[in-house]
Amino acid sequence: MMVCEEYEGGMVVGKQNIYDDDAFFDSYLALRDNPTSANEIEERPAFFSMLPDIRGKRILDLGCGAGENCRAFAAQGARMVVGIDISKKMIQQATTHEVNPDVMFRVGAMEDIAQIEGKFHVVASSMAIHYVEDFSKLLMDVHNLLESDGIFLFSQEHPFTTAPIDGSKWIRDDENHIDHYRLRDYMMGGFRSVQWLDHKVEKYHRTFSEIINGIVAAGFIIEEIMEPIASEATRERLPSYQKTIHKPNFLLVRARKR
Ligand SMILES: C[S@@+](CC[C@H](N)C(=O)[O-])C[C@H]1O[C@@H](n2cnc3c(N)ncnc32)[C@H](O)[C@@H]1O
Repeated sequence: MMVCEEYEGGMVVGKQNIYDDDAFFDSYLALRDNPTSANEIEERPAFFSMLPDIRGKRILDLGCGAGENCRAFAAQGARMVVGIDISKKMIQQATTHEVNPDVMFRVGAMEDIAQIEGKFHVVASSMAIHYVEDFSKLLMDVHNLLESDGIFLFSQEHPFTTAPIDGSKWIRDDENHIDHYRLRDYMMGGFRSVQWLDHKVEKYHRTFSEIINGIVAAGFIIEEIMEPIASEATRERLPSYQKTIHKPNFLLVRARKR
């Protein structure tokens, strides 16, 4: 097996692990069960549209959560899928599903992936890298884990969402209609602690230039960037998505190892 056994557990001390909080975990799973969540409407379709042909390939999923994407990679013909997540509850949830024996789940932190043995054709990460403080190290570790020409595909909260130090807010007009997004603190990269699902959640804000220049400096060629929003038809059907014409929810990047 490509992942050392010692990697399992034990190395997650000192890093935020909010998804192991019972109340947060339940709220998060309820959110993800909603078929009209922004993940389902915007992020997952864009993410899978950017995925290369993975038939016969080895995939590593960083911050895999309950393993939905790992199962989708296997269904698309991946030869081996390794999902890692800092949350034991998430990994337990992932392993409750009957999975293909070529899909493996491990408790582990993205900060420790340099300890993983072996190489992958694709490193994927959906909505997790904004929890990592040292983006340059993560990129270097991902680069080392990829086969030559390998792909790093990730999604994250949009930098306009992570920017405001006191959390993202929409400003309404006199008739209580959403008018604009309150973008502030954008150029002040770094630590954020904001309220989400009734909890304080710690994450890191990075500007576009920090993200793009970091990826290039680590030895990648950027192939595609997406800031997906719901289609016009969906925005009419689900009016809460109208506001995304002012600010997208997600940033997705596909980069190829040089
Ligand atoms: C928003 S969830 C996304 C889960 C999954 N990728 C998906 O799209 O369904 C973020 C996940 O990242 C995990 N996570 C947060 N910080 C992490 C870290 N430092 N190392 C590994 N996983 C982490 C959380 O436990 C959580 O499962």
